[in-house]
Amino acid sequence: MSNIDRTTFGHGTTTDEVLEGIDLTGKLALITGGSSGLGAETARALASKGAQVVITARNVDKGEEVAQSIRSATGNDNVEVMALELDSFAGIRAFAEQFLAKYDALDILINNAGVMASPFATTEDGFEMQFGTNHLGHFLLTGLLIPALVKAAPSRIVALSSAGHRTSPVVFEDINFEQRDYNKWASYGQSKTANILHVVELDRRLADSGVRAYAVHPGVIQTELSRHMEQEDWDMMQGRLDEGAFKIKTTPAGAATSTYAATAPELEGRGGVYLEDCHIAEINDDQTTSVGVQPYALDPEAAKQLWAVSEEMVGQTFSV
Ligand SMILES: NC(=O)c1ccc[n+]([C@@H]2O[C@H](COP(=O)([O-])OP(=O)(O)OC[C@H]3O[C@@H](n4cnc5c(N)ncnc54)[C@H](OP(=O)(O)O)[C@@H]3O)[C@@H](O)[C@H]2O)c1
Repeated sequence: MSNIDRTTFGHGTTTDEVLEGIDLTGKLALITGGSSGLGAETARALASKGAQVVITARNVDKGEEVAQSIRSATGNDNVEVMALELDSFAGIRAFAEQFLAKYDALDILINNAGVMASPFATTEDGFEMQFGTNHLGHFLLTGLLIPALVKAAPSRIVALSSAGHRTSPVVFEDINFEQRDYNKWASYGQSKTANILHVVELDRRLADSGVRAYAVHPGVIQTELSRHMEQEDWDMMQGRLDEGAFKIKTTPAGAATSTYAATAPELEGRGGVYLEDCHIAEINDDQTTSVGVQPYALDPEAAKQLWAVSEEMVGQTFSV
């Protein structure tokens, strides 16, 4: 029995604290983008509590190095790497087929992989890269894995969103930046709002089957996510830090909220919500702050519309 007071969880809470007293033996977790940053730490934390963990990586050698370090650190050998590129629908379908041939029940899906503020580019299937990778790739992957999530129910889906969602709703009139100038932060914000709306609609469709969905802002953590940031972006971030707009988290604190969403007993019976600092965030449309969730990201009508648009884009409907 754990002595930890879970009501005090907050900004500095770590993965290990979130998982204190929780046994994940017999659970299977799939984490996209486990080859670095928050995904790697989440995988380590879940494996340390006995979960069988599959991490995906674009570069399998890089993923295997992470998996090996997790096996050594936790003594849990059930850590596996599978190749996945989220900017290719064909690649996602091939991955899902391979995954489902091996596993027919999935307890925890963490849609963690992401790209931020990248220069304009398109996916293999012609969609704007940040929306295509962060949202559409995970939309297709999740849709294909729904039967396994339902089979394992009660099961959970966690989507790594961001406070960056506050910079843009989903602009349904021009998702791919064909009629407006490309803005790398508006693009990131749009994709991260899509992650939340996806969770809202997943939870509405799947709650009765025992599958619950959660969106998460992990905090601000120094990881490889900043690879596309330029000097002016670093200056802007430093300015916000100096103003006290946010505080940097360590990686174990950054991965704590997604680990919490995936496992916390207090979230039983809840879903379709956005969490930050290991609690359900307040709704907040104040543009001057990065705290809370924008109302447009929880709008049930926008969530339904995004589902329909996404099905059209991936060329597949999901009967759930
Ligand atoms: N760090 C933060 O401050 C912060 C704040 C808010 C939200 N987030 C969110 O947290 C999540 C994890 O970010 P992180 O900070 O851990 O970043 P990270 O260290 O860059 O990890 C991102 C992961 O996504 C993978 N990935 C990127 N593009 C991919 C693609 N096209 N197909 C498949 N995998 C792809 C990367 O693979 P490679 O190793 O091959 O590059 C990597 O494993 C992201 O969704 C991010 O938006 C992070």
